[in-house]
Amino acid sequence: MGRGSGFGKVILFNEHFVVHGVPGIVSALDSTADAEVKKIDEGGIIVKDERKGSKGYTEKKKIQQKESIDRMLEAMGVSKNVSLDIWLSGNLPGFSGLGASAASSVAIARAMTQEFGMSLSDKRINEIAYEAEKAYAGTPSGIDNTAATFGGLIWFKKNLEGGPNKIERLNIKEPVEIIIANTGLVANTKEMVLGVAERKRKYPEKYNPLFKEAEVLVHKARTALEQFDLKRVGELMNECHTLLQGIEVSCKELDYLVKLARDNGAYGAKMTGGGGGGCIVTLTPGKELQEKVASVIEKEGFKVLRTKIGIRV
Ligand code: PMV
Repeated sequence: MGRGSGFGKVILFNEHFVVHGVPGIVSALDSTADAEVKKIDEGGIIVKDERKGSKGYTEKKKIQQKESIDRMLEAMGVSKNVSLDIWLSGNLPGFSGLGASAASSVAIARAMTQEFGMSLSDKRINEIAYEAEKAYAGTPSGIDNTAATFGGLIWFKKNLEGGPNKIERLNIKEPVEIIIANTGLVANTKEMVLGVAERKRKYPEKYNPLFKEAEVLVHKARTALEQFDLKRVGELMNECHTLLQGIEVSCKELDYLVKLARDNGAYGAKMTGGGGGGCIVTLTPGKELQEKVASVIEKEGFKVLRTKIGIRV
């Protein structure tokens, strides 16, 4: 039996923009997806997914999950005809936007390599998980699998020429409380990513300036995080949400939750991940503020994850 884990993640700055080579900032969460893999004599690939998720999340992602496992086997040079029992569990909720697919791909890749007696570096695991991500996201930036593999707070820039991506660990003074709140809507990341690419091509006069602004914004965000200027980080998260609205990946449920969090004292709030549903992330330093904002959102009937960014791994 092979075992492995992958971190969940929350994108703090520039989801979608990262797909097109603009830098983004992502934080791994302390929640993980965990996998156990066992070779069996026959029956193909059998996945038992015991993760707690949004209703319908695991059902909707089943076909993509099958393709992702085939892609990983190919990347590892293992025959697709192998039969495996795969159990998925862990404390990472299956909310859209928390990198659940990348976390599970990293977990499965690690568990498979152990079961096959291979010894692979994190760098190689990250590459294999990137292949898996293509099944879920079409042309992923690689930010999700990078956070899922390495953990921590990361500055990420996709290399559009196909060379190695820029991955830098950012250090902040101490971990900071955040809340992730779920709209309950399951979004299709692949369609959202394709939609942005299509609109960017069709309406360059509207989209190109927004991409330029995102590039400027993320450098300011890096400085604010490194200086631990949390008020400024919050403001920049708000600005990032406006840019994401501009490229038409937010929705009324996300906007509603963002406003609710800000009205109740969050330093900043924005959608996170692919959008069109999924989650928001709010910056709520200190247990007290975190609890206040979380309970207001919960009272409205939404599911909330109380966690921190910048946790050292
Ligand atoms: O929705 P998630 O958790 O898969 O996040 C996707 C992030 C995107 O920037 C929209 C896509 C990508 O590959 O970077």
